[in-house]
Amino acid sequence: MTSLASARPSDSDLLALALDIASEAGRMIAAAREGTVTVADRKSSVTDVVTQVDRDAEELIRRRIAEARPDDAFFGEESGGDDGTSGLTWVVDPIDGTVNFLYGIPHYAVSIAVVEGPADPANWVERVGVVLNPATGETFTAVRGGGAFLGDRPLRLPTPPALDQALVATGFAYDAELRGRQGAAVARMLPRVRDIRRLGTASLDLCNLAAGRVDAYFERTLNPWDHAAGGLVVTEAGGVVVGRAGAAPSRDFLIAVHPELLAAVEDLLDDTGA
Ligand code: IPD
Repeated sequence: MTSLASARPSDSDLLALALDIASEAGRMIAAAREGTVTVADRKSSVTDVVTQVDRDAEELIRRRIAEARPDDAFFGEESGGDDGTSGLTWVVDPIDGTVNFLYGIPHYAVSIAVVEGPADPANWVERVGVVLNPATGETFTAVRGGGAFLGDRPLRLPTPPALDQALVATGFAYDAELRGRQGAAVARMLPRVRDIRRLGTASLDLCNLAAGRVDAYFERTLNPWDHAAGGLVVTEAGGVVVGRAGAAPSRDFLIAVHPELLAAVEDLLDDTGA
């Protein structure tokens, strides 16, 4: 058997490795959730927290990647980046939905993507993505050109309803002033859609779209690790993941939706000042 660390890996090899690492991290996170979870530090604001479990999970993931793929670059939420020489970058959120994790709401995820290029959505090509919810065991995977799956079930976005019957997921920034403006925009949106969902984990919001559990998702101030893996799940399930006005998704804006509903959602966001 050739070592995965040497030759150019196939996407299925990368997926198997990402899945194995996500599963190990998921078991560690689920076990840690059985005990007491406390805030270890605060980041961009008092509500933007990190727990020791986030750090330990990222350390485990980073170590496992370095052992198996020493030439790849790494970019993680809690420990930053390492350059590589292979052209591949692992983009990792050890616990997406940290606030849910802290409160024991069983809706958080290990998110691992392998991208060709840097950890920059405008310049990367996602190759594989894994989003695993340690609390429920649900595991979403995608391989570029190979489809998206929930476990063994292939995912395909259903034909969307009209906007006034669409269930729209979103999230709010950690910055208090921006949250206030986002809340006002959502208030203007509510009469024009079926309802709004704020579930607290961007990677799972994206996977929920791919699984037909919501009809659209948008958010501002997302980081690459929040959407690298889930974004590939969406596009492989037939959705689009874009920024505003045809731009690549970025910290400024990410919209994920069935292509037939994109124009209506863009108009909604423009009209409501989202
Ligand atoms: C956050 C979650 C949340 C989203 C935030 C993200 P974190 O990630 O995905 O749903 O609204 O924008 O930062 O901080 O829990 O890893």
